[in-house]
Amino acid sequence: MTDRAYVPSESVAVALGATDVAGALSASGTEVMRTGSRGLLWAEPMIEIEHDGRRTAYGPVGADDVDRLDACELGTVDDLLAGQRRVIFGNCGAYEPTDLGAYRAHGGFSTPEADPQSVIDQVKIAGLRGYGGAGFPAGRKWQTAADTPADQKYVVANADEGDSGTFADRLIMEGDPFLLIEGMKIAGHAIGATRGVIYLRSEYPVAVEVLAEALANARADSILGDDFEIDLFIGAGAYICGEATSLLESLEGKRGEVRVKPPPMAVKGLYGKPTVVNNVMTLCAVPWIMRHGGAAYAELGVGPSTGTMPFQLGGNVKRGGLYELEFGVTLGELVEHWGGGTRSGRPVRAVQVGGPLGAYLTPAHFDVPMTYEALREIGADIGHGGVVVFDDTVDMAEQARYAFEFCIEESCGKCTPCRIGSVRGEELVQQIIDGGGADRFELLDDLCAVMEGSSMCAMGSMTPKPVRSALEHFPEDFGLPAEGR
Ligand SMILES: Cc1cc2nc3c(=O)[nH]c(=O)nc-3n(C[C@H](O)[C@H](O)[C@H](O)COP(=O)(O)O)c2cc1C
Ligand code: SF4
Repeated sequence: MTDRAYVPSESVAVALGATDVAGALSASGTEVMRTGSRGLLWAEPMIEIEHDGRRTAYGPVGADDVDRLDACELGTVDDLLAGQRRVIFGNCGAYEPTDLGAYRAHGGFSTPEADPQSVIDQVKIAGLRGYGGAGFPAGRKWQTAADTPADQKYVVANADEGDSGTFADRLIMEGDPFLLIEGMKIAGHAIGATRGVIYLRSEYPVAVEVLAEALANARADSILGDDFEIDLFIGAGAYICGEATSLLESLEGKRGEVRVKPPPMAVKGLYGKPTVVNNVMTLCAVPWIMRHGGAAYAELGVGPSTGTMPFQLGGNVKRGGLYELEFGVTLGELVEHWGGGTRSGRPVRAVQVGGPLGAYLTPAHFDVPMTYEALREIGADIGHGGVVVFDDTVDMAEQARYAFEFCIEESCGKCTPCRIGSVRGEELVQQIIDGGGADRFELLDDLCAVMEGSSMCAMGSMTPKPVRSALEHFPEDFGLPAEGR
């Protein structure tokens, strides 16, 4: 066989045996190149064989399958990815992640020269919103940092990716790390920063290696150095350090506790200097915007939810993985069409959207378009794009109890509603599960209102979301009549 094979070096593929597959292919005389993942995690290890410039995908492939690949054929890669709109993940999986030449050959580092204000203007025209959860307009944040005079400014990539069921940042960092480096460099140019930091969670050891090598290659090529330098900082495994002000505390060597705002970080951030903290994907969207123009990005999506969202499907779903789609796809299309329904084959009962602080939705919400605005109308949030599916065996009272348990575990402890409220909340839900009286519901309602209204950050103020949505949509699991209490 003289064709070339592409085998992912991405964490999930490797955990499922991709390195053995690569070894078996090499032993059979096939040239093997290790790449990022295309995100179709249900098919991993998914390999691609290039023949006459066309790649055909096979998966899941085991080391024993390399002699009979036809049995695992999935079709061409183009067909497999058809229907997605890949802005951020366009090249992920196409080449060796740390091969700077390949990144350049696919258009990398080819952004036209532009003065800082024009860059910010394009990001504003794009309507780019932060992918870290809050959906804050990136251009506005960049403008504030640019307009704040200082001897030093910083760009920080938030790669803490703590939301359960999310893995988009990891996939792009493991598969296309120069995209993040390029996005950070453009952001630095726009706001006048010469230093950047990637705050990476320690639970991503492959990303640590890939980024370290990519940064070294970028330095060797003078992409990084005098004008702009990036440090890689490894976190210590606290969910709250994904919250941007705690992250900065942690970077400064302090305990990861939320800072009081204002002032905004774009005015007073890392070491008191103007700092833009953006999620990895926010920064990764910027090179595409600069190459195609902000207007091209703004044409995608629906209304103020411009562009695409790399949705991450997980939980009890047949085809778990990442699907980058325009904002506006419905929840039902995501779960049923892209995800293929539940893995167990049982009916879908609940879908948690937007991470551990996100609301639980039901099949009755399947027509809701996935936009910031439409989700907010039904009390939900798109967050970082995590979509976790549950079948009809889920116990939603247990899920509500778990929401408080998560908050107990991960609260930074700085404010009382969250630190103490989470403990009382878990007790209350447990009492309800154990058949406690009707007054428990009133207390729980009160407690949620206090947490929502007076917590210092979204950790405490959003923990009631999964609790309230579970109560509202699944009252029978709390011993209440199905039509509501
Ligand atoms: C409890 C908590 C955890 C968070 N975790 C993350 C995270 O893991 N990654 C992330 O990018 N943003 C996270 N955020 C959001 C950040 O505070 C911040 O809004 C974001 O990094 C800004 O970047 P963006 O505007 O590009 O989204 C978290 C927020 C809260 C309240
Ligand atoms: S809400 Fe929780 S995590 Fe946020 S500042 Fe208060 S104690 Fe810390």
